[in-house]
Amino acid sequence: MSSFGSCTVVVGCQWGDEGKGKIVDVLAEDVDIVARYQGGANAGHTVHVDDDEFILHQIPSGILHEGRRCLLGNGVVLDILQFFEEYDKLAERGIDLAGRVGVSRRAHLLMPYHRVMDRAVESAADVKIGTTGRGIGPAYEDKAGRRGVRVADLGNPERLERRIAVSLERVQQRLEGLGAEAGQDLQSAMDQALALGDRLLEISVDTGPEISAALAAGKRVLMEGAQGTVLDLDHGTYPFVTSSNTTAAGAAIGTGIGPTAIDDVVGVVKAYITRVGEGPLPTGFDAEMDERMRELGGEFGATTGRPRRCGWFDAVISRFAAQVNGLTGLAVTKLDVLDTLPEIQVATGYRMPDGSVVTDFPADTWSLGQVEPVFETHPGWGAPTTEARSLDDLPKNARAYLDRIEELTETPIRWVSVGTRRSQIIQV
Ligand code: GDP
Ligand code: IMO
Ligand code: MG
Repeated sequence: MSSFGSCTVVVGCQWGDEGKGKIVDVLAEDVDIVARYQGGANAGHTVHVDDDEFILHQIPSGILHEGRRCLLGNGVVLDILQFFEEYDKLAERGIDLAGRVGVSRRAHLLMPYHRVMDRAVESAADVKIGTTGRGIGPAYEDKAGRRGVRVADLGNPERLERRIAVSLERVQQRLEGLGAEAGQDLQSAMDQALALGDRLLEISVDTGPEISAALAAGKRVLMEGAQGTVLDLDHGTYPFVTSSNTTAAGAAIGTGIGPTAIDDVVGVVKAYITRVGEGPLPTGFDAEMDERMRELGGEFGATTGRPRRCGWFDAVISRFAAQVNGLTGLAVTKLDVLDTLPEIQVATGYRMPDGSVVTDFPADTWSLGQVEPVFETHPGWGAPTTEARSLDDLPKNARAYLDRIEELTETPIRWVSVGTRRSQIIQV
């Protein structure tokens, strides 16, 4: 499987949940280090190992391969309570994590008050984002506002206490303004989180130097993106986005390596598209088809359990993703979910309200609610693809469909996933 560069970014190219976890797990077979570079416990990355299912939120999806080092970069907002819960659950399930997990000393801590704030802001908002409620927005707000606390601060309890007191006071004021309450357990949640400080410090590292040294020594590194390209704070469907740079350039910023260290960028796309949370979905299905695809694809959020909205493959978005991430290859997932459909559509452009057709992804998010996708129709293949292990094993129409995705995205397909299992992968 090792037909990818020493330092490869795996990035979601839709609205998240493309199957990044599955692809990272498959590629992790051939690497030494897997690093997360942004986001936090809003992510839900599902990996199947034989009959066992693991849903990873903060720990990189390389953890299920023995011996691989798994890092959380400075770009991550780390929820300590959730992190150690996840860590301990993996250990209980027999995964040996000792010496394998490292957290950047520069990573910001996502505190219990960030979660409270996230929910309070969301419930008071006129325009709801439909966040995962994991405190992501408020944690990045504190980071950008230079009020955040970082892993390194855990080494100086007095300073930490002072900085947290300032943040907490501000949170209380804002909550009052929103007519919301902090809840009685906030202080005890804070105490619990901070009690884990020493444990976190023990595994804290400088991810940039560690990764750079590993690359210099000829080791191989995967950078695991969370969320997806159109959820990127700068390039996504703002304001219906997450609060970090999900796109490939975020991998350099979010781990502390230089951009020239990156050799390959693999974009992960589903063979259709989904979205969870608010915001436009131009190729979204009608209610009946939406329900059908949700059942076929098991499209329920891995973090929140919310139903995901489903739609046809959107090549306006995949081409945009190819450009903004500098993709060198594509991994197409969930092809098998389309096996029983008589016809499959692909959006090649958007018809705007004035009748013009655009093929560049529009910056004006609000206009996306009014566009009519321009679809082309492809015949289905009506045969299972789950046993295919090479392109030659695929039905002719499935190959033609993949060829068209490749052509419209202007990026070569390097992997096709045809099921949840590790073995259900085609390397092109
Ligand atoms: P991520 O957030 O990008 O890692 O994706 P999620 O784990 O949230 O959602 C992807 C879902 O699709 C998970 O339940 C995976 O087990 C599943 N999945 C991944 N690849 C395939 C595939 O090729 N076929 C099928 N049927 N399911 C897949
Ligand atoms: P993975 O890594 C899909 C969505 C939320 C909401 C918006 C902002 O599993 O692909 P946030 O909690 O980040 O402030 O929510 O982003 N969202 C995701 N959607 N997959 C994810 O992660 C997501 N993480 C956040 O639903 O619309
Ligand atoms: Mg997910």
